[in-house]
Amino acid sequence: MSRLLLVSNRLPVTVKADKDGVSVVPSAGGLATGLRGPHEKSGGLWVGWPGDVSRLTPAQKASVEEQLAQQRCVPLYLSASEVSRFYEGYSNQVLWPLCHYLLERVPRQDRDWEVYRKVNERFADLVARHYQPGDTIWVHDYQLMLVPALLRERLPQARIGFFHHIPFPSSEIFRALPRRLELLRGLLGADLIGFHTLSYVRHFASTLMQLLGLEKVGDHVDQDGRQVRIGAFPMGIDAKAFEELVRQPAVLEEVRVHRENAAEQRLVLGVDRLDYTKGIPRRLLAVQRLLEREPAWRGKLRFVQVAVPSRTAVEDYATYRERVNELVGRINSLYGSVHNVPIHYLYRSLNQKQLAALYRAADVMLVTPVRDGMNLVAKEFCASRPDEDGVLVLSELAGAADELDEALLVNPFDVEGMADALEAALEMPAEERKRRMRALRTRVIDCDVHCWVNSFLSALQATPTAPPRVK
Ligand code: UDP
Ligand code: G6P
Repeated sequence: MSRLLLVSNRLPVTVKADKDGVSVVPSAGGLATGLRGPHEKSGGLWVGWPGDVSRLTPAQKASVEEQLAQQRCVPLYLSASEVSRFYEGYSNQVLWPLCHYLLERVPRQDRDWEVYRKVNERFADLVARHYQPGDTIWVHDYQLMLVPALLRERLPQARIGFFHHIPFPSSEIFRALPRRLELLRGLLGADLIGFHTLSYVRHFASTLMQLLGLEKVGDHVDQDGRQVRIGAFPMGIDAKAFEELVRQPAVLEEVRVHRENAAEQRLVLGVDRLDYTKGIPRRLLAVQRLLEREPAWRGKLRFVQVAVPSRTAVEDYATYRERVNELVGRINSLYGSVHNVPIHYLYRSLNQKQLAALYRAADVMLVTPVRDGMNLVAKEFCASRPDEDGVLVLSELAGAADELDEALLVNPFDVEGMADALEAALEMPAEERKRRMRALRTRVIDCDVHCWVNSFLSALQATPTAPPRVK
């Protein structure tokens, strides 16, 4: 029977070691949360990194391996140097900022490329070892851009898909990468390359034309006698799971507590990994601006910002964390009182139930990344509102804005404009809230994660298989 082999740097579970011992906990981030459900259904394997195991005793490591095996996860362990150079280095200090148009954050030295390449080879070797004829391989994201071609060398007949979860930037940005050609050729080992939006597809196609000299790239490219298809497949969420969560009595009780804590106040929510692409400082400034110019809102807003610790060893993330801390402190000291503060800042990760309760309780959800491949949080908020209430304020630079145009769309660089949108959201009449939320929910429920997986995998199955090799 055909199995699905998922391949991503981050497994859906991450090892957590603390004073209570060692366990595996669900990973945060859109890739892991989105693919978790489809993996459970598929019965296949998921190859990836379970996080740092270097401090575990042999017995603890054995227990982790057992837990991973139960979830059909195949671990690829990274050494300390690989974590620093492949994960934190090339993936998150070069590719991540570059694909999010933040060229000035890319280091001047290109010193981590070799380790990036070697780790991609390790992934390809491990996948090839687990591959059985007839399996479908689906590789994910920017950490593994060389894996499709490396797999094609090892398994010429395999069906290989690749999905790029972050923006694919304009060719003018991508061309700045010294290793641009190797990365493009790495991707072209796949039979199908998927992106969240049509504009990422267009950027990729024009990059191929400009940098590889290919002519008129449409929905496919001819490569080494094979056809490589390219397409937009906007990722969805497990909308039904969120709907079910927000009907559970324990979750409804938590919703009641959130509402009670915000008695006489409007609850505004932000939920992000603490990442400089998420636009948290300007979002905070927009809240500050509203309080500054509209004294009537002082004491009437409770802004809960959940910031999940992420990539903490990377310096830019540490600096960003300090910047956010300072801003929260400044705004709270300006507009807080002994009775309450406007900003409730949680630097921690929440589980799905806790998130669902917050989504369900909020009056306004602020999703204002300065650039985001898709942004699943925006969709989770809509799925959690069977009451057809709540206003979504969404950055036009998030991939999700292509589908969710009944949100209040904002330019995340325009603080004054975001303050206007927040005010409009807070004052929006019930009827308009309902009309917008109903339309948003229809889209999020119809185009859910299962629909995304099915459409990508059917397109992958429909690609012509590689011609047999001439000996
Ligand atoms: N998330 C989580 N715990 C938290 C906050 C967020 O599990 O405390 C999840 C959230 O439910 C969502 C994902 O992390 O599924 C974030 O995905 P998104 O696409 O919004 O952004 P990314 O982190 O992938 O850049
Ligand atoms: C984004 C990326 C994923 C990544 C996630 C969390 O969603 O597209 O590939 O897994 O962020 O980041 P982390 O570095 O913790 O895996």
